[in-house]
Amino acid sequence: MSVHYRAVQWNRQKKVYDRWLLIGVALYLAIFAAADLSAHPDSTVETLLIRGFGSASLLLLHVVLSIGPLCRLDRRFLPLLYNRRHMGVTVFVLALAHGGFSMVQFHALGDVNPLVSVLAGNPRVDSLAQFPFQPLGLAALVFLFLMAATSHDFWLANLTAPVWKSLHMGVYLAYGLVLMHVALGVLQSETHPALAALLGLGLLWLISLHLLAALRERGADVPLDVPTDDGFVDVGEASGIPNNRARIVTLGGERVAIFRYDGKISALSNVCQHQNGPLGEGAIVDGFVTCPWHGYQYVPDCGRSPEPFTERVPTFRARVVDGRVHVHPTPLPPGTRVEPAVWEDPDA
Ligand code: HEM
Ligand code: FES
Repeated sequence: MSVHYRAVQWNRQKKVYDRWLLIGVALYLAIFAAADLSAHPDSTVETLLIRGFGSASLLLLHVVLSIGPLCRLDRRFLPLLYNRRHMGVTVFVLALAHGGFSMVQFHALGDVNPLVSVLAGNPRVDSLAQFPFQPLGLAALVFLFLMAATSHDFWLANLTAPVWKSLHMGVYLAYGLVLMHVALGVLQSETHPALAALLGLGLLWLISLHLLAALRERGADVPLDVPTDDGFVDVGEASGIPNNRARIVTLGGERVAIFRYDGKISALSNVCQHQNGPLGEGAIVDGFVTCPWHGYQYVPDCGRSPEPFTERVPTFRARVVDGRVHVHPTPLPPGTRVEPAVWEDPDA
């Protein structure tokens, strides 16, 4: 394989986030156990563990799924993105503990293989109240495992960003399976309306947040598809782009980030090769376009990451005519160098 494995690079910031994540999970489990015991004093330790780990995993899954749209709505949430992968792996570990304890408690004492017992132990697909909800949980666990196992950047580089991204979209499938697992499982016996309301509110929260973020992005897109005679598109005044920052425009359906730096203008794809972060919302740092999500960097005039990194994004031809930036909407192959347009700010 061309990509070498490098152990997770923990830095101080990640350690602090991980500590808070673990403290949060431990606190939740303690509060859950206390609340559950006061409502059901005869609960066994096994039941407490199964319910505590299951609900903690689902709660954290809501947090993980909220971080993306929250960051698109407000940049102050960006630091959470740095730790999202660790949260995702924690969701899996908690779900594994929940599923593992459930298998031991409900499926390990008979003479049938516990996996077979989960998958085939209950054939009542014709009944809503008796539906075999546990295979749905198992399917969700398999998806969560696949994502946790490939969460390291080693797999991102090996699978390529588009494949990795598609695989990790499976988190929404896992969420759907868990919703059905809970709705057809515990909600059939625990009929207190607050539980169903909580599950519904969680779904409503996530749908609203994703819709809001999509609407905001759509509103920000300025489709500029009126080309000049030679195919270039006028994307506005050069002076409107702050120094060392970018303007994002949509050309031919693609988002393009147009950066201004050192008296020059360069245009490149807005989509970071790491996890599709919005490059145009980043800045030029130390001469490199720097992604606002996890800090991947690219040389502005060729879209290549500095050595030893190998990421490349498509570039676009740009020029300045009478103080207005023109960009050609046809993307050039990733990593193609384009002579930057020269433009000195007359007011500087
Ligand atoms: C092998 C996989 C799984 C098995 C065998 C399993 C089994 C169970 C069982 C037996 C219950 C009912 C417990 C009770 O009524 O006390 C339950 C409930 C629940 N499960 Fe799962 N489950 C699995 C995977 C998952 C996953 C992947 C998640 C979430 C990420 C999850 C989240 C929940 C939640 C939130 C509940 C309701 C609260 C609770 O009772 O824990 N389960 N599961
Ligand atoms: S998306 Fe992670 S660095 Fe750009």
